[in-house]
Amino acid sequence: DWTMASYKEEAIRKIREQVGDRKVICGLSGGVDSSVAAVLIHEAIGDQLTCVFVDHGLLRQKEADEVVSMFRDNYNIPLIHADESELFLGALEGVSDPELKRKTIGKLFIDVFQKYANGIDGAEFLAQGTLYPDVIESVSFSGGPSVTIKSHHNVGGLPEKMGLKLVEPLRELFKDEVRALGRELGLPASFIGRHPFPGPGLAIRCPGEITREKLEILRKADAVFIDQIRKHGLYDEIWQAFVAILPVRTVGVMGDGRTYDYACALRAVTSVDGMTADYYPFTHEFLGETATRIINEVKGINRCTYDITSKPPGTIEWE
Ligand code: XMP
Repeated sequence: DWTMASYKEEAIRKIREQVGDRKVICGLSGGVDSSVAAVLIHEAIGDQLTCVFVDHGLLRQKEADEVVSMFRDNYNIPLIHADESELFLGALEGVSDPELKRKTIGKLFIDVFQKYANGIDGAEFLAQGTLYPDVIESVSFSGGPSVTIKSHHNVGGLPEKMGLKLVEPLRELFKDEVRALGRELGLPASFIGRHPFPGPGLAIRCPGEITREKLEILRKADAVFIDQIRKHGLYDEIWQAFVAILPVRTVGVMGDGRTYDYACALRAVTSVDGMTADYYPFTHEFLGETATRIINEVKGINRCTYDITSKPPGTIEWE
């Protein structure tokens, strides 16, 4: 794509001009935006960039390995894998209120990011994958009615607190343009087409108290669901798909025995921007096959439901 090729060159020139020979830190989430920003900045300034990937222990199965191998091994980008799952899961023990979960994770995330960033000697810039819609949204919402449905987790305010200047090379782009830029930078299609994943991660897909046991069960069920969606060629038609593990055990029968295990809910929606969403109209065959696979393959789950709530009145995530 000619336009993106020249956009890329121009963006690289601007980053070099802004940063010079100084150092940049970039928080990597595994999402498309921060990934594209990191690869672009690395092309511009090479190893003056260090990425920090905060692993809060609430990631999907194999997610941390994929991010680390993609950026460190594939792109040779200096990457700190901040494995702080013990810290996060410890702080979340006994917490079941959704807002308290979000606030606990959000605050720790900032502390942890700051701790690792401080360890990078002489860094002067913080890179963020801010997009044009994020820029507009923060303007048009100020002064408007403020109803907080869910407190979102972000690193707003952090640059000032740490005395860092911002590098935001995607500020003029919409999501589809970021994907085009990602392709231009050679990121694999499977990575560019990834569904969004929320900052608080699996915490908000595990209503009630979070335990390591539930997280393990959830990861397995979620992996089966996504595998089913890919096998049926539906991944790219869906905005987001995931499993939520419900805070309830129900009775079932398997072989000659009685089971008493967790129930789960499958969630899959179509959407343009995440603001409104419709549940995805899977066939009954698909749903039946998926439920059978999850119950057979995932120890700890014996009942599977499908969430047919649209947004509004529901939200996409369960918390
Ligand atoms: P809801 O559940 O509010 O989600 O309908 C709308 C979209 O936002 C994502 N989401 C988040 N993303 N930090 C994020 O980065 C968060 O705290 C957060 N909460 C929800 C959600 O996955 C969906 O795409």
